[in-house]
Amino acid sequence: MCGIVGYIGKRDVAPLLLEGLQRLEYRGYDSAGVAVCGKSGLKTVKAKGRVRELDAKLPKRFAGSVGIAHTRWATHGAPNDVNAHPHLDSEGKVAVVHNGIIDNASELRAKLTADGVEFASETDSEVLAHLVGRSEAETLEEKVRHALRSIEGTYGIAVLHADFPDRIVVARNGSPVVLGIGEKEMFVSSDVAALVSHTRQVVTLDDGEMATIKADDYRTYTTEGSRTSASPTTVEWEAESYDMGGHDTYMHKEISEQADAVDRVLRGRIDDRFSTVRLGGLNLDAREARAVRRVKILGCGTSYHAGLIGAGLIESLARVPADSEPASEFRYRNPVVDPDTLYIAVSQSGETYDVLAAVQELKRKGARVLGVVNVVGSAIARETDGGVYVHAGPEVCVVSTKCFTNTVVAFALLALHLGRTRDLSVADGKRIIEGLRRLPAQISEILEREDEIERLAHEYADARSMMFIGRVRGYPVALEASLKLKEISYIHAEAYPASELKHGPLALIEPAMPTVAVVPDDDLLEKNRAALEEIKARSGRILAVAHREQEKADHTIVVPRNEVELDPILMGIPLQLLAYHTALALGRDIDKPRNLAKSVTVE
Ligand code: M6R
Repeated sequence: MCGIVGYIGKRDVAPLLLEGLQRLEYRGYDSAGVAVCGKSGLKTVKAKGRVRELDAKLPKRFAGSVGIAHTRWATHGAPNDVNAHPHLDSEGKVAVVHNGIIDNASELRAKLTADGVEFASETDSEVLAHLVGRSEAETLEEKVRHALRSIEGTYGIAVLHADFPDRIVVARNGSPVVLGIGEKEMFVSSDVAALVSHTRQVVTLDDGEMATIKADDYRTYTTEGSRTSASPTTVEWEAESYDMGGHDTYMHKEISEQADAVDRVLRGRIDDRFSTVRLGGLNLDAREARAVRRVKILGCGTSYHAGLIGAGLIESLARVPADSEPASEFRYRNPVVDPDTLYIAVSQSGETYDVLAAVQELKRKGARVLGVVNVVGSAIARETDGGVYVHAGPEVCVVSTKCFTNTVVAFALLALHLGRTRDLSVADGKRIIEGLRRLPAQISEILEREDEIERLAHEYADARSMMFIGRVRGYPVALEASLKLKEISYIHAEAYPASELKHGPLALIEPAMPTVAVVPDDDLLEKNRAALEEIKARSGRILAVAHREQEKADHTIVVPRNEVELDPILMGIPLQLLAYHTALALGRDIDKPRNLAKSVTVE
């Protein structure tokens, strides 16, 4: 969703800001803008559409060495030039970029309008520019603080003022703000992706924190004005991890990286001596692990699906009742928060608002919440009491692939850990560890079959709708594969437990509605085969993902076997490629599917 970039130093700021915005394009946006403070004061340019359209609009003389920029995802008001950020106050001296939503914007707008302020845009964010501009405080920090006192809602903001050209003031409440510390230059962004090509030394602000950045200095403080001691940390991701690396799309790159990514999530964590794993950041000792009576996993979209597989792993390896629920629903049903339940928030970005809000609700009620998160230092990672990092590396494509796989592997590690503090035997612990170690090579084996999967994608790309089925462990695989297909190909797809077919969805089966069936060689094989018979009897086309050729299927993608508990990890991978090649065959914009954003930081 929206992205912020800012710079102060000696270099010409506009090209730096545009480069930063380009690095944030993956998050999804509909317009962009930039403000620069130069010798002749504040200048802004804004454009609907892509960053390249903003670039084309920049005048030749747009010099300055301090500036802020933004990519906007419309919430209040249409995506157009006027509603794009930065927003200015009436005198054109203050420029503000804002991520988040100001809940009391209409009220503030009405008050300011009654005082004679004329609004240029329909956005909630513009009120901030006017509030800062009208503040009579002496310093820019005080003016911003003054404005924030009137605001209810979430924000990550950067503020530039023509009368204070030596600084940018930023603040965070519910929307990320990261400072990038350079040599006699400073950067700010809502996402480290925009910073890593310049510096890997970053300071992540906490909610309720503000900062002033100058070319050679920064200082952090609370919105009340007391100093805080945020010190820089080093970002572990390299700038090159954000490049396409010779692939045509980020999605293809990220699918191809999965063997290495899985290797990374396992690295240094396996403890062969006790057939268990070491998870340093869990903050859960053996006694506490044994006291857990139930596990509740919360996530959205793909992370929710990874949580479903995770819950299955925890139940089977640790024999603790576990389930996964969409975080977006959780807090609205006034959940019973149980002190003996271990809550786990799952998120690739660590920023998803619905997940963060669920974590905050749980913490408020005294629950212990762990995180299974990819982005180190993200809001969810910081809010939770401990957790497991997924170590998938940056995921740029809007649709999640390698993070899904790594998240499930992280759950396998957690399940093994919980299991070995309880009743999982040494022999079973060893069996799972050996299975985990086989995964990277088996993933590579599946990826080598891409040509075959591409051919199949062409066979099925004419479908207007597709059914995905699986049983027990196979069902979340079907759910995730169906989400992948619909997100990037726009083919309608739905997933059902195979056992539910005859309770309704069988009515949909006909030659024009192919079925993708997840059919592992487990104790449910015969039952799955019966479902394939039912579909065949209705002239349905079937593509099976299985451990051996399925007679009733029109096509079978054969995947290598692992331990039954870990099979879902491998069975999902060919279906990512199926979605990818189907979308490619249909000419879709794979990395930026319509209407979707990478991080959903608003409700
Ligand atoms: O960053 P998160 O894992 O919290 O994101 C959750 C969902 O928004 C995300 O998984 C979404 O479903 C993706 N588009 C899936 O491909």
